[in-house]
Amino acid sequence: MAISLLFLTSTTILSISFLTLLFLFLRPSKSSNLPPGPPCFPLLGNLLQLALSRKQLIHYIPDLIPLYGPIFTLRFGSQTHIFITNPELAHEALIQKSQLFASRPAETPIRNIFSCNKFTVNSAFYGLDWRTLRRNMVSNILSPTRLKTFDSLRQTAINRFIDHIRAESASDSEISVLRNTRFAVFHILISMCFGLNLHDEEINKIDILMKKVLVTASPQMDDFLPLIKPLFAKKRAEAIKVRKEQIDAIVPLINKRRGILENPAAHPDATNFSYLDSLLDLQVRNSAPPTDAELVTLCSEFLNGGTDTTATAIEWGIAELIDKPSIQSRIYEEIAAVVGKDARIINENDTEGMVYLQAFVKELLRKHPPAYFTLTHAAVEDGKLGGYDVPKDANLEIYLPAIAQDPRLWKDAGEFEPERFLRGGESAEMTGVKEIKMIPFGAGRRVCPGMGMGMMHITLLLARMVQEFEWRNPAEKKLDFGSKFLFTVVMERPLRAIALPRK
Ligand code: HEM
Repeated sequence: MAISLLFLTSTTILSISFLTLLFLFLRPSKSSNLPPGPPCFPLLGNLLQLALSRKQLIHYIPDLIPLYGPIFTLRFGSQTHIFITNPELAHEALIQKSQLFASRPAETPIRNIFSCNKFTVNSAFYGLDWRTLRRNMVSNILSPTRLKTFDSLRQTAINRFIDHIRAESASDSEISVLRNTRFAVFHILISMCFGLNLHDEEINKIDILMKKVLVTASPQMDDFLPLIKPLFAKKRAEAIKVRKEQIDAIVPLINKRRGILENPAAHPDATNFSYLDSLLDLQVRNSAPPTDAELVTLCSEFLNGGTDTTATAIEWGIAELIDKPSIQSRIYEEIAAVVGKDARIINENDTEGMVYLQAFVKELLRKHPPAYFTLTHAAVEDGKLGGYDVPKDANLEIYLPAIAQDPRLWKDAGEFEPERFLRGGESAEMTGVKEIKMIPFGAGRRVCPGMGMGMMHITLLLARMVQEFEWRNPAEKKLDFGSKFLFTVVMERPLRAIALPRK
């Protein structure tokens, strides 16, 4: 979700709460046709209640459902956020009224610097720029046919990843699962993006920079409270500095690719095609090709969209395999049945037919969606949802875990049971077109275009990890499945695991 309220510390919020002393009573919500919600404090809206709950927003929302029902309003300073938390309302918003709620809200000034004024698939208003950029991304880099052409690039990156784990487990018995997995996914994506064969150090450098961009672009207090904006003047200067660093790091990669395209024969280790190639001459704004700064933004979106989401899912997946060794054995047996115990490395063609592994990945995304909210939606014009008003400038937030664990739709919704998806059991079609039961990638016009690639990376990486290693808990006590928001919803205690080579 666009608002990372989760970064707002209680201290910061409490320190400005003196403003509320100007008003000695709570003010009810002004607009009677908005969905219900807690009473608002002047200026702060509901920020104070959120701070006093001492919870991150992802954990605060479930407290409000029994009080206000499946649709409610929270105000964060000057912004109105409408939350929907059940499958029926999600279906109404994302499928039945897909076009009405297909836009995004305005950017904060800092985010505008990084998005080149909304020049990305994820941030663009619903309209021509969005359609052109999205169509290009889907057909030129994320289509199943194109994904197949990157087979050997994926193998190279995953082999290097397995070597890293082997080396790390030989020198230090515990592996940091998220750090290693993030690196593997980022390696695949950066190679697909620029078509270059980069060294670990170069990949690492860009990865660190991308994280810095995410942190800098995260909304902070002044985005909700325009009155205190002057206090945050330094933030803009800092953002411009980080943007320059990002451009200085990425433009040389763009120029390197331009050189390769001029003389492909001189660069046999470069790929035949990259995402960047599809962008260089793309006619978007004013029918002109993107500038270098816009190319940096579009390439960064590709790298960021698919890295943390995929790596987070794998961290939760390995945690579940450690916690439930019988599931881990069953997946290993399924791999062995397909490729043999001492035979070749498993590939994506093999995983397509592995029914239990596929069920495991579905259950993983049901129980541990990497994003608890879709990206923030906005109405293209004033609209209605669940009988309430949704004004054009409101932020529409869809809370995914409440849908995927709705006890009306799922048996033993809180349990982790891949078996539920095996033949004759429960089903879930993840695009949500017919019916919404779990939508870890969103649904409707703004559904994640990377769903196919994300699923493929999660499935293949998990399969390789189980084929090569037996995963165990280094500690005696059971794993802690607490969660926290850090761009995606990660394990509160980052998973450290023992990886025992199987041969
Ligand atoms: C496990 C992996 C992934 C998960 C769980 C995930 C989840 C999501 C979600 C929940 C949304 C918001 C949908 C909405 O607003 O309704 C989204 C949007 C998006 N995702 Fe993903 N994603 C994943 C992988 C990827 C990958 C691999 C890419 C591409 C490299 C990608 C690129 C995007 C883009 C560009 C959007 C914005 C779409 C639009 O606004 O039209 N994602 N994703």
